[in-house]
Amino acid sequence: MLNKINPAETSAWKELNAHFDDMKNAHMKELFSEDSERFEKFSLKFEDILLDYSKNRISEKTLFLLIDLAGETRLKEAIEKVFAGKKINETEGRAVLHTALRNSSNEPVYVDGEDVMPKVRAVRSQMKDFSDKLLSGQWKGCTGKQITDVVNIGIGGSDLGPVMVTEALRPYWQNITPHFVSNVDGSHICETLKKIDPETTLFIIASKTFTTQETMTNAHTARRWFVDKTGSEEAVAKHFAAVSTNQNEVEKFGIDPSNMFVFWDWVGGRYSLWSAIGLSIACTIGYENFSALLEGAEAMDCHFKSQPFEKNMPVILALIGIWYNNFFQAETEAILPYDQYMHRFSAYFQQGNMESSGKSVDRSGNPVDYQTGPIVWGEPGTNGQHAFYQLIHQGTKLIPCDFIAPAQTHNPESDHHSKLLSNFFAQTEALMMGKTKEQVRQELKDAGKTDEQIQSLLPFKVFEGNKPTNSILVKKITPRTLGSLIAMYEHKIFTQGVIWNIFSFDQWGVELGKQLAKSILPELKEDEKINSHDASTNGLINAYKLMR
Ligand code: F6P
Repeated sequence: MLNKINPAETSAWKELNAHFDDMKNAHMKELFSEDSERFEKFSLKFEDILLDYSKNRISEKTLFLLIDLAGETRLKEAIEKVFAGKKINETEGRAVLHTALRNSSNEPVYVDGEDVMPKVRAVRSQMKDFSDKLLSGQWKGCTGKQITDVVNIGIGGSDLGPVMVTEALRPYWQNITPHFVSNVDGSHICETLKKIDPETTLFIIASKTFTTQETMTNAHTARRWFVDKTGSEEAVAKHFAAVSTNQNEVEKFGIDPSNMFVFWDWVGGRYSLWSAIGLSIACTIGYENFSALLEGAEAMDCHFKSQPFEKNMPVILALIGIWYNNFFQAETEAILPYDQYMHRFSAYFQQGNMESSGKSVDRSGNPVDYQTGPIVWGEPGTNGQHAFYQLIHQGTKLIPCDFIAPAQTHNPESDHHSKLLSNFFAQTEALMMGKTKEQVRQELKDAGKTDEQIQSLLPFKVFEGNKPTNSILVKKITPRTLGSLIAMYEHKIFTQGVIWNIFSFDQWGVELGKQLAKSILPELKEDEKINSHDASTNGLINAYKLMR
């Protein structure tokens, strides 16, 4: 389906290796002073989003070679294939079509010769109808009261997307409070149940497979609690909805089929917020806003499909990521939103990146001989500044960072936003410029330090700088701009997967732990000592049995 080209064997890769020798010691400060147009050359605008990637250790030649790499690994062809519904998720035999979920055109999208768009539109209108009824108060609970709280029970892709988006779009909340339960740790569901009233709560059980241990355990606990409180099994119909690809299991659980929202195997879990998995989002911000989120993503899809690589935001981000990951051997990447509402954005893309690109076997099934996905992490600024930025500034590791900030705030309270943004601008400047010995010496002199004091303090106060960052400045975080931002990072992941010659849309790596947990669970029921595992696992389980 997708080509199986080893990127390390392309001529672009070899040239990039040679070019890396020229670039590895280049300081961005010099690159800026040599070229007064660096910002214009290395920035892109898409609608209300500005990407400044000039603070990277790249030259025009670097970009040229990276774009060559994308050409040699046939990225263009891969983009056409994914949008055309080809089964590029080969290990699961599936197409990858989250883009069809936000397709508003009349263009058909075929999977196995069937246009999936009529089904997509039908579920969209079911979601609209349901969320409209809920928000208008037309949908009544079992005692005739309006629904005030929605609890989404799901995990991974069936949780992180809805949590991240509802949090990021909190200013758009209407009259329903969302709650999210994901962890199988009973504390999560118990603490949530304390906050809600069964008569005014709707539970959405969100699970692609409807067999995930965490979700089903939480769903059964919620159902027991609900029936216990209301004393009515029939009332479940008015208070439980399901989102899944598995109709049989939903029926077995006892959810009214008219409250079931389907999606399809060509929607990957971590790409599913655009599907009915987004029901909790629509119920929180209203269908119109949910629709604007889809439109923003669709606009980015069109950009990704149509723009040449040098003007293509997701492609540029992906290529820069590869430059650091595979040539500078950077191990991690940070995503740092300067927006408190976006506090789950990095966690969301931690799954997006690490489940997609956490692969060490190429598309031919052979071990790769180069690095694939980086570790992705991050927290909102300015909190991170007072926690882990020290290592980014002065540690021994190179950590490329994406800084994201809205130009306009939803809360124009005194000078908070200017202060926030001054930090946003200052950090990328400091990371790039650093502070030289001469500057430190002068500073200490001005502060009245003796020569001896200056000598001893100097090495600790020098910042090498030259730390790469992308700055993503967004006019305002709205459903549309957020949709575009998410789609931008999704396509970045796709682009990197194509170039790394890996399968980005399976996640076999999470299976082993699940299987073992299933076999250990019955062993925990009895008190007797077990001996069926390795010595460490036996020791731990037996110690637990004595401690509990
Ligand atoms: O962690 C593995 C995974 O399969 C994710 O990819 C997925 O998002 C999550 O589990 C939840 O799966 P489901 O929606 O089937 O409950």
